[in-house]
Formats: sequence, C-alpha cells, structure tokens
Amino acid sequence: MFMPRFSQSASRLATDNDDLWEVHTEALTRKDEGEDIIVMSVGDPDLPTIDPIIEHAVTSLYRGRTHYSPGMGELPLREKIAEIETAASGKPTSPDEVVVFPGATNAVFSVLSCLLDSDHQMIVTEPTYVGYQGIFRSIGAEIVKVPTIAADAFRIDVEAIVDAITPATRVLLLNTPGNPSGRVMSEEELRYLADVTRERDIWLVCDEVYSMLSFEKPHISARRAATSLENVIIIDGLSKSHAMTGWRLGWVVAEPHAIGPILDFTSATVFGCSQFIQDAAAFALENDAEYIASIKEEYRKRRDYALERIEQLPGISCHCPDAGMFLMLNVSAIAQDGSSFARQLLDEAKVSVLPGIGFGEQTKDYVRFSLTHGVEVLGEAFDRLERFLRGHR
Ligand SMILES: Cc1ncc(COP(=O)(O)O)c(C=O)c1O
Repeated sequence: MFMPRFSQSASRLATDNDDLWEVHTEALTRKDEGEDIIVMSVGDPDLPTIDPIIEHAVTSLYRGRTHYSPGMGELPLREKIAEIETAASGKPTSPDEVVVFPGATNAVFSVLSCLLDSDHQMIVTEPTYVGYQGIFRSIGAEIVKVPTIAADAFRIDVEAIVDAITPATRVLLLNTPGNPSGRVMSEEELRYLADVTRERDIWLVCDEVYSMLSFEKPHISARRAATSLENVIIIDGLSKSHAMTGWRLGWVVAEPHAIGPILDFTSATVFGCSQFIQDAAAFALENDAEYIASIKEEYRKRRDYALERIEQLPGISCHCPDAGMFLMLNVSAIAQDGSSFARQLLDEAKVSVLPGIGFGEQTKDYVRFSLTHGVEVLGEAFDRLERFLRGHR
C-alpha cells in the first residue's frame, strides 16, 4: 500500500489552526445559509474595486494581454511603483529595484525564503499579523517574538528588539502600519532599527501594505527612515488601499544586490504575474489620488464612529488606531478571554469578531473588530454589541 510521505515544510504547515478561525468560518456558513450575521472578523474591504480599474483590465484582456510576463513585472508598472516609492522614501528608486508579486503574501514568503534557513532566527513584533503564521512555519526558522507595549497603543519597543538580537538573527520583520494594532511607527524608531540591523548584518523587512490608509499620523516608509538602504526590503500592494484583494498584486522594493535572488525565486515559483492585472494596477496607481483620499476618509469616518460608540459601552476599551481597518477591543474586564467573548458574541448577538490570540499571547484578552462595513451596518453591529454587553453586566 502507498505510504504518503510529505516534506518537513508541508508537515510544519499542517499544524492545526482551525480554532482561531472557528467563529469566523461558522459566521460565514451561517450567513450563507441566510442567517442575519454581521461579519466583522475579516480584513477584506467591503468596498468594490472601482469601475475604471475594472474597465482597464477588461480592455487589456481584449488587447491580448494574456501572455507570460517578465519575472520582474511589466516595466510600466515597475516605473509607476518606483515613482511612488521615490516619493514615499525621498530617495531615488529605480524600476530595477522593484519586483512585482501576486500579492504581498507571496512577496513576504518569497523574500523570507531568500533570506532564512531553518537554523536562523527572525525577530517579529507581537501582536503579529495572523497571515504570517503559515509562512513562518513553512520556512521553519526560529521566530523570536518581541511584545509591543499594549498599554501604549501597541508601541514598538525598539530596545526590546535590539536586546532580542543574537548571532543567529538574520531578519527583523516589521509591519507598519501594523495589523492588527493600527500603529504607525515613527521615523526615529525605524531609523534606529534600520541602523542597528545594518551594523549587525541583519535584514530589515518591512511590510507596508496599509501605507496608503493612514489617518492623522502619516505612514513613514522604512526606506525613508533608513540612513542606508543596503539591508532594507519593503513590501506593499494594492489589496487594502485599492480594495483589490482578489486581484493579487503586490511588490517588493530592495537594493539591486537583493533583487537577484528574489527574482530567481519568483521566476522559479511564480513565473511572472498576469499582464492584464499589472496593466490595471499601473492604471490604478496612476489615477488614484482622489480615490485614495476618499477611501481614507471612509475608513476614518468608520473608525471615529466606532470609537464614539465604544466609549459608551460598558466593559470594553480600545485605543485609537493611526491607520488601517481594524480596532483591537480589550475585553479583559468582562470575558474570560477574547476567544470566549468572540464565541458568545456570535451565539448571542450574531456578530463575528476575530479572537486576539491569533495575533499572539499578548492579545489573548482582545478581539479584532474589522471596519469593513459602512457606518449603517456598523451602527447595527454596535447596537447588538451594546445589548450583548448590557445583558452580561
Ligand atoms: C500586514 C499584512 N500583510 C499582508 C497582507 C496580505 O496582503 P495581500 O492580499 O497582498 O497578500 C495582509 C492582509 O490582511 C496584511 O494585513
């Protein structure tokens, strides 16, 4: 009889993660079956991709842009990204320093695969974006988690990061603006970490997928903050800013010496992204000034509405995020932990939120609440939350 045997990487990936998504998955199923569930547990924007971008992709398809594309990505798109990154960093960025990927997730996986072996260490800050977990397990390097300062709106503890560095550290992975914290790192914090890591031959990889969704405090790119870009690699994409999660479009910006291995990796595994999607992405980035302003305003409005409601609620608290589409609700005063709160909230109030434990131990008493509905639906979600909380007092 055939005995199925799998690689260590596949076995590591098979680790059971069902508990984390249990409430979310059940919420989606029950909603599909017709139940009146409000899903606040996902990071997929409710807003549609706007028509001009869709029309551009369709025209591109009819123009025959359906063939293989260069491993680096199409030049007009890389030129546009280089222009944006030049403006974001204040440092000249060439299209030869840009590689296009089918989404930031693939970009993170590809970059980390090029930098880490299983006997290396990577430092990450906690709370950590839940979607990294599979990537980390697949790569197999030791993940060293450095908690942020939860009481100070999840401020990154730069000294704790430096203290965590060992001779085995190869990568510091940052995420600013952060998911789920909504925290925007300051230029000083980033510069300090960029300098320390460069001195110690450590890569600084910075996931900046919420870069275009910051509110009062502007997003600072690690490339702007760093004095030297030798060890700095940034990742960004269109999923969040342009409500284009399903299009799968992200990018990496790095110095030419890092581009070679990254290009080899993506050429071997992806073999070029879809031409028509890259055409639409270039069009989106060229014509998005008004759109980005309006989408930012929409998320800011939702955030402010939600914070106003939370202030009136008994037993839960929340800091004001600088950016992004999430709120972290601290439920320690009224629930055993975030997981039991999420379970009860779905059962009793038909609202789904994500238990904070998915982002690390530090947030086990939190739930993540996504701002992926307009104020009207948010209003109903908060009415339900309020009834639930008052009922439990
Ligand atoms: C921090 C962070 N990085 C990456 C991603 C995934 O981006 P993409 O859709 O481009 O793969 C997400 C999605 O939630 C995220 O929050």
